Order: sequence, then structure tokens, then C-alpha cells
Amino acid sequence: MTVCAACGHEIPDGAKFCPECGAPVAPVAASREQRKTVTVLFCDVAGSTELGESTDPEALRALLARYFDRMKEIVERHGGSVEKFIGDAVMTVFGVPVVHEDDALRACRAAVEMRDAFPELGIRGRIGVNTGEVVTGTEERLATGDAVNVAARLEQAAEPGEILIGAETAGLARGAVELGEERRLDLKGKSEPVPAYPLVSAGGELVRRFDIPIVGRARERRALDDAWERVRSEAACHLFTVLGPAGVGKSRLTAEFVATLDDVPVVRGRCLSYGEGITYWPVVEAVLQLGRRPSDPRAAVAIASLLGESEEPATADEIAWAFRKLLEESAPVVCVFDDLHWAEPTFLDLVDHVADWSRDAPILLLCIARPELLDRRSTWAGGKLNATTVLLEPLTAVETEELIDRLLGDAGLDDALRARIGEAAEGNPLFVEQMLAMVAESPNGDVVVPPTIQALLAARLDQLDASERGVLERGSVEGKIFHRGGVEALAPEESDVPTKLMALVRKELVRPDRTQLPGDDAFRFRHLLIRDAAYDGLPKAARAELHELFAAWLEGHGSDLIELDEILGYHLEQAQRYRAELGLADEKTDELAGRASARLAAAGERAALRSDAAASVALYERAVVLAPDDSLTFERELRLVRMRMESGDLAGALRDADSLIDRAEQSDDRPRELRGRLARARISYLAEPATVGAFQPLVDEALELFGALGDDAGLADAWTVASTADHAALRWGRVQESLGRMLEHAERVGDRLLADEANARLTAAYLYGPTPVDEAISWYEAHPSEHPFFLANVGQLEAMRGNISKARELYGTAIERGKERGQLLLAASATMEAADAELAAGDPALAAEIALGGVAELEALGEQGWLSTVAGLAAEALYRLGRDEEAWHLTDKAEDAGAADDVITQMLIRQVRGKILSRRGQHEAAERLVAEAVEWCKPTDALEVKADAHRDLAIVLVAANKRSEALEALAQAQKLYEEKGHTAGVARMEELRAEVIATLPA
Ligand SMILES: Nc1ncnc2c1ncn2[C@@H]1O[C@H](COP(=O)(O)OP(=O)(O)OP(=O)(O)O)[C@@H](O)[C@H]1O
Ligand SMILES: [Mg+2]
Repeated sequence: MTVCAACGHEIPDGAKFCPECGAPVAPVAASREQRKTVTVLFCDVAGSTELGESTDPEALRALLARYFDRMKEIVERHGGSVEKFIGDAVMTVFGVPVVHEDDALRACRAAVEMRDAFPELGIRGRIGVNTGEVVTGTEERLATGDAVNVAARLEQAAEPGEILIGAETAGLARGAVELGEERRLDLKGKSEPVPAYPLVSAGGELVRRFDIPIVGRARERRALDDAWERVRSEAACHLFTVLGPAGVGKSRLTAEFVATLDDVPVVRGRCLSYGEGITYWPVVEAVLQLGRRPSDPRAAVAIASLLGESEEPATADEIAWAFRKLLEESAPVVCVFDDLHWAEPTFLDLVDHVADWSRDAPILLLCIARPELLDRRSTWAGGKLNATTVLLEPLTAVETEELIDRLLGDAGLDDALRARIGEAAEGNPLFVEQMLAMVAESPNGDVVVPPTIQALLAARLDQLDASERGVLERGSVEGKIFHRGGVEALAPEESDVPTKLMALVRKELVRPDRTQLPGDDAFRFRHLLIRDAAYDGLPKAARAELHELFAAWLEGHGSDLIELDEILGYHLEQAQRYRAELGLADEKTDELAGRASARLAAAGERAALRSDAAASVALYERAVVLAPDDSLTFERELRLVRMRMESGDLAGALRDADSLIDRAEQSDDRPRELRGRLARARISYLAEPATVGAFQPLVDEALELFGALGDDAGLADAWTVASTADHAALRWGRVQESLGRMLEHAERVGDRLLADEANARLTAAYLYGPTPVDEAISWYEAHPSEHPFFLANVGQLEAMRGNISKARELYGTAIERGKERGQLLLAASATMEAADAELAAGDPALAAEIALGGVAELEALGEQGWLSTVAGLAAEALYRLGRDEEAWHLTDKAEDAGAADDVITQMLIRQVRGKILSRRGQHEAAERLVAEAVEWCKPTDALEVKADAHRDLAIVLVAANKRSEALEALAQAQKLYEEKGHTAGVARMEELRAEVIATLPA
């Protein structure tokens, strides 16, 4: 029996959480298992069997011992470690226990030295080097991963005396190594040939390009200029430190400054990232560049000792003093020390000494370091009056853009990719540069983190102590922004998380951020790539467990979060995913999947309710993938179909609906099949020129079956389709009734989305039906909504009562909102109301523009239901503009797309064609067509549509010189417009009437 570390309550065996306080039991992933990218080097003796035959066993043993010792010495000098000896082979790893950013190059250098040592040792060896991800910290130290196997195979494929390196290693060491011609090797267990490169030499450095004009940094340049100005005018020493993370541009900034100093000697020294006995390497470089010795003989001796020219030993103090003397005698002088974060303490003391003791000599000590310097010496430059430190911040977004432009030159880059690079690099010029280079190399245009940068970040994290690293990793589980409370819940073994977090802030890895949870503290990773590097170091098993624990913690603490479901869904999904990837297909994994699915579906539903169709589809897709096979899954799948339809993906919606129907049929599940068919009917009404009447038998059967079963969800669906059919027939009274039933059942099952839709569509009945305009507007005002449908409809009503400016504002907002929320179909269909409003307002040019735009958008979406009507409206507008040919063409389009019993479409086709024929003098045919339209609308109660048809009848009768019949049709039209309260229509009829009376003989 154990007790809870948080509250002391007893915990039953096997429990994961304390039953009393809910704190997690057992530290998670307490072992320091880690995923990391390392470089593996294999070295073996070629022809060792023959060697064994020809050599005395004792001599052979001595030979091999010498060989092993020598190899080990070389590898360790370069910062690698010998993993194991296997027969005559040596396996070594660079990156264990700590990763260095230049591990690949270190391995290459070691390989070259090993090869060069073979002849002297009297053996013929061969070497393979490869870089890749492995798991470390397990029992057997280095888990064998693919990277290890490939290194071994490369070694076996090498000729005696040859080194073969893999593509990853070659990429990482590029510029610093000389390679032979690429070879493609068929390796055992690899489906594709593996590229390999003979390594010739590795004497170079990893260099960065400084050829692009510098961007920004004006302020920091000024600070440097000022410091130099002071040094000269006061003849004093100044210590100027440029701090900043890797790649931010410290060396670059310094180079720019130094380039402006032409009459002053500048000496440079660089701290090296590895090796012993190189404490003074930067001083040696500087002394050699100064090209002189101090005049004081004692100082000269110390310098000679430093340079290895004298056997006489010198102490650290003596060397520091001597170097200061030398600088003072060389003044004015600028002394640049780069990469101070790798400096040995003795060297830092030396710089301190010069800064503190130098008098009356203009010396600028320009030091460059990553913030890690402060880990080694937190008081660096502190308390000095003659010191300045600047922290280089990331480039701004504008500067980043400029840098991208400069790096690209004439090469093009697509906007999306460009934006992604700008975002991912977060203002780090090195990252920008390397990501652009990677994109240039990989034509599929993915932005991935370049391996060089991965190595850089991994190296940074490997320097943290285990508990700081643990805290950072726990934070990375939550995301780029994380909370102290979450970390504490995930790291119960860590007693003082706040202190660790402050240390990470000091190390510039995270910074405090605004908390999203009251009473907690939030932190943000300085860079998303740092977060990713920390996360990537976690083994998958730990990730799975941590995500699950985090979800448990958040459930208790995140009730204020608006997107709680989405976030919980994500963490549960990740926990499930990693378990599945590890092959843990058990009950626990299934349970996680089920919970994730439920959360994601809830989030998807909320997105649907705020009309964010695109987001809803994405969430439901994930919910469906994770859902267990049950009735909930079925509802989620139906919802996905629905949201796909709304987002304008009609083909996808049809495909999913068909799959639902198929599966229901196969399992003889008639209710599910009917629900699938009802869903499909709604889409096919939009996507396929079906006749709406064909829905009736389906609706009848569904109403009967679901009525008998008392299935409200099914009934709601059936009434939805019924209302659609009535809608198409323009029987608005019946539409109101079926929508009322739909609403009732939707509310009973708590389906808010469907209820909202019923309410929204009731608005159409008020718009097109017999309700007078003023009354309809009052109804709308009593049921306010932000739904695009609603806005477009009110817009059309306003146009009817002559208020076109208000109408434009409303339909404009409707279209814009639809687009903004990804409801492309809604946005496109709102062009119908917009074009109608402009026709009523007497602006056919604008109406044509809007309607033609709508036609193009609907066609692009594969939509057909609205398309036919919008095409009809476009035809009407074009006719009014006198563009008869085009108008006719659009009536063809309307005819192709429209259902045979889609009343409004069929009427528009006939009215426009009739009027065109009338213009061409074919009066009889014209009159017949328009009369047909009038017939079509007789059974409907759509007042405006009816009025329009009578108006058009009047128009063709006027052209045919039929005065009294024309006046009669006009009177009919006018009466209908009046009944609707359509003042714009009434006014137009009065004008027409005056024209008829004035132009036609009695
Ligand atoms: N302001 C800038 N404008 C244009 N290019 C820049 C700028 N700053 C940096 N770069 C480029 O970004 C790359 C990285 O810069 P630099 O080597 O100076 O970084 P650093 O801060 O010294 O990094 P490290 O800590 O690794 O030494 C270089 O290729 C450099 O030319
Ligand atoms: Mg640098």
C-alpha cells in the first residue's frame, strides 16, 4: 500500500490517481528515456580472418588492443563515446550523453583521423557513419534503431581504408567535409537504394553565409558605434556583450560593425565547442593576429609559454596580465571573442581581468554569446561601469519578409509556403535561411525543420539539468503556451516547479505569458521549435501517458476555457495515437479513443452552431475516425455529412452519405438506411438535377417508420426534407407547417443545429410567402439573428420597400460573413437575394454582375439547386441590359441545372426567353411562354414571383400591341405587389401603365 505524495491518503494498489485528491500516482516516465538524433560510427577491421591466420595469437591480441585504445582515444577527443566492441568492430556514438549541434561533423573528423591511423596500426579498417533518431537511456544504453543498422551496413559496404557516410550526415556536415561521388547501395532490409558518400576529408568549418545585405539591427549597430566612440574619446576599455539565441545574427551584426573599422586593428578569437586543453585557444588566435609581443620581459615569457614556445610554465593570472599588457600596447584595438558560451571559466576570468584592470588604453572587448553563457556565469559583465550588454531580439515580421525577399532574389516562392516559413522561423534569420534552402531542395515544398536546426536546438536542451529538462518537457505536452499547474500535475516527482520555471525563463527558453486559467501561471516557449525539440525528445510511451494525465488535470482545472472540448479532445487523441503507434491495441487505447471522439464531436457541434462549417468538418472528421462502432458514431457520421454539405463539399458529402447507406443496407438496418437517404436527399437537391417530387415516397416512408418508432431524430430529418420539397414548389404555407414540425422534433432531441436551421428557414417563408413586407420585417425584428440567410432575406425585403442602401448593407454583410466562416455555399447562394434586390431597385448592371459571380462560385462548388435560380436571375438582368444572346445562354444553364419541378427556375426560364422572343418580334411564341410561367405560379402563394410573371406578361403584350390585355395584366401585377407591400414593384407598374397609355392606341 502506498500513500499519495500530495495529500498522504492511502492509495490502493494499481491506482493511477489518488482517490482522495485526484493527484496522479507514480512519477511518469521517471527513467530518462529519450528520443534523440545521434550520429553513429562503425569501424571494423577488414580481412581479420586472414590476419588471424598469419599472425601469432599473442601479437594479434596486442595489435587489437592498440587499435581499440587508439580508436577510443580519437573518438573521445571529438566528444563521442564508445558504445561497444563487437569482435573487431567498434561502435561509437556522437550525441550521447549530450547532443552537440555539430555531432555529425565531429563524427566525420573522428572518422578521418581513425582512417589515417590504420596504416600506422598495421590494419586495414573500414568505417560507416550515419545520423538518425534513436532511443537512449534504456537498459542497453542505446536502443538499436534504423540509424544504427544503416551505419553498420555502410561500414560493411565500404572498401578497406574507406569511410562511407549517409545522406543525413552529409547534409549536416555540408561545407565542412569533402565527399567523393555519391553511391547508391542496396542494403539488406531496405526497399529503396540508400545513398552513400565516400568521405575524403573533414578539415573545414560549418560556415554561414554573410553575403545577403543585413536586415534591420540599426539600433544595435548604433549601440556598438556609441561604445566604440566612448572607447576612443575616453581612451578606456569597454566590454560590450552581444547576447542572443543561436542564429539570431550575433556574429553577423558584429561582422557588419567590424567592417566599418578600417584604420583600427581588429583581432578575433573563437571559443571551440569541444576538446580539452583549448581554454586559451581564442587568446592564442588573438595574440597571433596582433603580431607582436609585450615589451615587459615577464609578460613576454608568459605569452611565449602560452604559445608553447617556452617550457617555463605560466599561471592563469600571469597569462591574463600579460595579455592585458599586450592589448594595452596595441591600443586602439578591437578584440572580438565569439561563441563565449563555450568558454572555459579560466578564459572568462581572463576577459574579466582585462575589462577590470585595463587603464588609459582604448580597447573594445566585443564578446558574443548565446544566453547559455549566463548558465556558466550568471554575473557576466554585472557590476561593471564600463560594460554594455545587448540582447538581440528576433527580427520583426516586416524584417523577416524583407530577409525572405533578399534570400529569394529572383527565385519565386508560393505565398502560402512563404507565409509558413515566415511563421515557423519566428524572426530567426538562420531558420529562415535554412528553411528556404530546404524548400529549394525538396520540390514537394514542405516546410520541415532543417536537421541543422534540430541539432542546434537539441544541443541546447541537452545542456539543461535533468529536472529543468523534465519541467520543459512536461510543458511541451500542453503546447507552445503552458501552465505551471499542468507541469506540476505531470511532474509529481519535482518538488519545486516554480523555481525550475524561473530558471528556464532566465535561460531564455520560455517567458511568462498571460494565463488562460485563473489562479495559475502561464509560460510560452520562446520559439515553437524549442517546444518541438523538447517534445520530440520524449519517448512515445511517455507522450501517451503525459497527454492522458494532462487531459485528466485539465478536466479539473480548465472549466473556464471556451475551447475545453477541443483541447481535451486533442490530448486524448494524442494519447490514443501514441499507444496505437506502439502497437498497444487494448481496452485502454479504445477507451481513450472513445473519450477523444466524444470531446471532438462536442467541439465540432459548437463550431457548427457558430456556423464555422470548415472547423466543424475538421473536428467531426477526427471524431469519426476515433469513434467506436455504435449509435453515437452513426450520429457523428451523419453530422459530418451535413457539415460537409454546408462547407460546400457536396461531392464529399454525397460520398459519405452513400457509404452510410451501403453499410446500413448490408446490416439490414432500415432506420439507419432511411436516415442516410434523407441526408442524401438534402445534398442531391443541391448537387444533382433530381426532381424534388421524387423525395415524397422517401418522406412518407420515413414519417411512418419513425413515427411508429417514436424516433424524433428521424422525424426531424424527414420533416426537413419535406420542407425542402415544399420550398421548391413555392408552397409557403406548407413550408411553414413542415418547418414547424421539424423544429418540434429537433427541439425534442436537443438538436440545436437543426432547430436553428428550421428557424432560419422560416424566414424564407416570410420573405417569399403571402406575408406583407412591413409585417415580415417586424417578424424578423422580433426574431433577431446574425445568420447570413437571415441578413440576406431582410436585405431583399428592404429592397422591396424601396430601401436599397439598407438592402446593400445587409446582403453585403451576409456574403462576407458566409465567406469568413467557410460557409462558401451560403455565401454563394446569398447572391440570389442580392441580385433580386438589385433587380427590384432597378439596377440591372449591378444585378448582372452579382448574379454572374454567384453562378461562377456555385459552379465551382458543384452546386446545382441554387445555381439554376441564380442563373435565371442573371438571365433577367442581362435581358434588361439588352444583352439578349448572353441572357439566352444563361436560361440554358438554368434549364440544365434546374429540377423539372423547381417552380421558380422554370418560371424564370420562360419569362426571360419570352421577353427575348418578343424583342425579336416573335410575339405569339413569346406570349405563350410567359403565359406558361403565369400558369406555373398559380398554385403557389409566392406573391412577388407571381407579380413578376404578370408584369412580364404585360411586357410581351405591350410589344404585341395588345393594349387592353396588357393593362389587365399590369393591374394584376400591381395588385399582387400591393398585396405584398412591394412598393418598388408598385411604383414600377405605375410607370409602365403610364407608358402603355401614352404609347399604345386605345
Ligand atoms: N539581420 C540580418 N540580416 C540578414 N541576414 C542575417 C541577419 N542576421 C543574421 N543573418 C544570417 O543568419 C545566419 C545566422 O547568423 P549568425 O551566424 O550571425 O547567428 P549567431 O547569432 O551568431 O548564431 P550562433 O549563436 O549559432 O553563432 C547567417 O547566415 C547570417 O548571415
Ligand atoms: Mg555566431
